[in-house]
Amino acid sequence: MPAKKSTRPAARELLFGDLWEYDPAPESAPAFIEPRYGLFINGKFVAPKTRKYFDSISPRNEEKLSEIALAGAADVDAAYQAAATAFVSWSKLPGTERAKYLFRIARLLQDRAREFAVAETLDGGKPITESRDFDVPMAAAHFFYHAGWADKLNYVTPGRTLAPLGVVGQIIPWNFPLLMLAWKLAPALATGNTVVLKPAETTSITALKFASILQDAGLPPGVVNIVTGAGETGAAVVNHPLAAKIAFTGSTEVGKSIQRALAGTGKRLTLELGGKAANIVFEDAPLDQAVEGIINGIFFNQGHVCCAGSRLLVQESIAEEVLSKLKVRLKSLRTGDPLDKNTDVGAINSQAQLDRIRELVACGVAEGADLYQPACKLPEKGFYFPPTLFSNVAMSHRIARDEIFGPVLSILTFRTPEEAVEKANNTRYGLSAGVWTDKGSRILKMSTELKAGVVWANSFNKFDPASPFGGYKESGFGREGGKQGLLDYANLI
Ligand code: NAI
Ligand code: MG
Repeated sequence: MPAKKSTRPAARELLFGDLWEYDPAPESAPAFIEPRYGLFINGKFVAPKTRKYFDSISPRNEEKLSEIALAGAADVDAAYQAAATAFVSWSKLPGTERAKYLFRIARLLQDRAREFAVAETLDGGKPITESRDFDVPMAAAHFFYHAGWADKLNYVTPGRTLAPLGVVGQIIPWNFPLLMLAWKLAPALATGNTVVLKPAETTSITALKFASILQDAGLPPGVVNIVTGAGETGAAVVNHPLAAKIAFTGSTEVGKSIQRALAGTGKRLTLELGGKAANIVFEDAPLDQAVEGIINGIFFNQGHVCCAGSRLLVQESIAEEVLSKLKVRLKSLRTGDPLDKNTDVGAINSQAQLDRIRELVACGVAEGADLYQPACKLPEKGFYFPPTLFSNVAMSHRIARDEIFGPVLSILTFRTPEEAVEKANNTRYGLSAGVWTDKGSRILKMSTELKAGVVWANSFNKFDPASPFGGYKESGFGREGGKQGLLDYANLI
């Protein structure tokens, strides 16, 4: 491609600059999205008793993708009744039989991986490379992993075994729709529970497509029921008397309201809420690797990540160097059509989330932090926000305290390890943290002093179904993944 400028570019610019145009490389596989989806209750799609539907649009171009049923209290009740009936036989199946269903589900999802990746990107706005290489394979991995546990529940805790809780109500968010479904369903089914699941209102499509995988796997009717709708539907799921447990992932605000609603009911609860993770870079860190980790930590999935490294804490002696490396790297990020395989930063999930990001960024500017955004052409239709850095950020700034949940990094500095720990822990959240240093002993010390559920060392955003995930403080409680995650879906007997 011809260079846009007539002057000869410096080698560095050729590597990182904005001189190269890419031809579009759109993913073209069909997503097979139905024009209208009912509720998935007792193994079948049914029309909602409310007779109401709402539109699901694509944040990529604001076009309507499908109509989604709006479940009311009577629909949620029907889902719970189906789940309670199914529990009687599902909970008595030998673990080896439940494992077969989970393996089948995992294999069927793998078979249809490309279709699910396209649907996820169309519905939620994340880059196709991420849904293809992360969301869908990780979702399958969670089913495979938990299939392995289903017949080994006697070995989770020596001398004890796990008994299912009953019907579990699960509410999931819009940032990793299919993956959060897998995080919730796989351990619940492996331990013999049945489920009423509510996807987020902006991203219900892959959950509804997933219902067809459950049908193809021959899962007994009622074991998994999917009800769609927004907050009111969610509240009906939370408050249903048949729920033995609620598992919620979403905002701290809604998490707190659920905790209040369940107080005194005896229902079990796990909450996976917001975060404001510190990604801490010491002067002895391998800087180019750290820069890649910082970029991945905050711009992965447009920053719609509860464990995003949204606060960079960089040692003062290297702060300028890191900032200039970050600016160069930011110029090479491609923001735009999430269906394009060249895209690094896709569409913001919804107009509401875009408004929230804009408000917090305006607040950062008003509070006096220095804003940097690379020049980039954003598509005219759809919800987009350029990758953004804020330097000169103080701990008192809102952009250092509130979860922005967008492609916005706040950069702070520190002088000593003690100051790094103090600043990192000075937050109402405690979900994750990152440490970049050459010294193993420092990694170990930091990981014990940081009050965060996950601490990544010289890496960020690494996930594995065997590794428990969850938070402290206002990031919630309970764990998902690993043995600890199984225990949150069972009684020890
Ligand atoms: P939200 O907490 O309202 O949505 C999450 C899920 O909860 C959705 O399925 C929603 O329908 C459901 N819900 C909403 N109100 C409910 C209620 N009263 N009872 C039961 N379920 C209810 O999150 P929202 O408003 O979409 O995003 C706001 C902020 O929350 C984001 O900017 C971000 O900071 C944070 N967030 C954190 C997530 C995480 O992964 N921890 C995921 C989504 C949002
Ligand atoms: Mg909300």
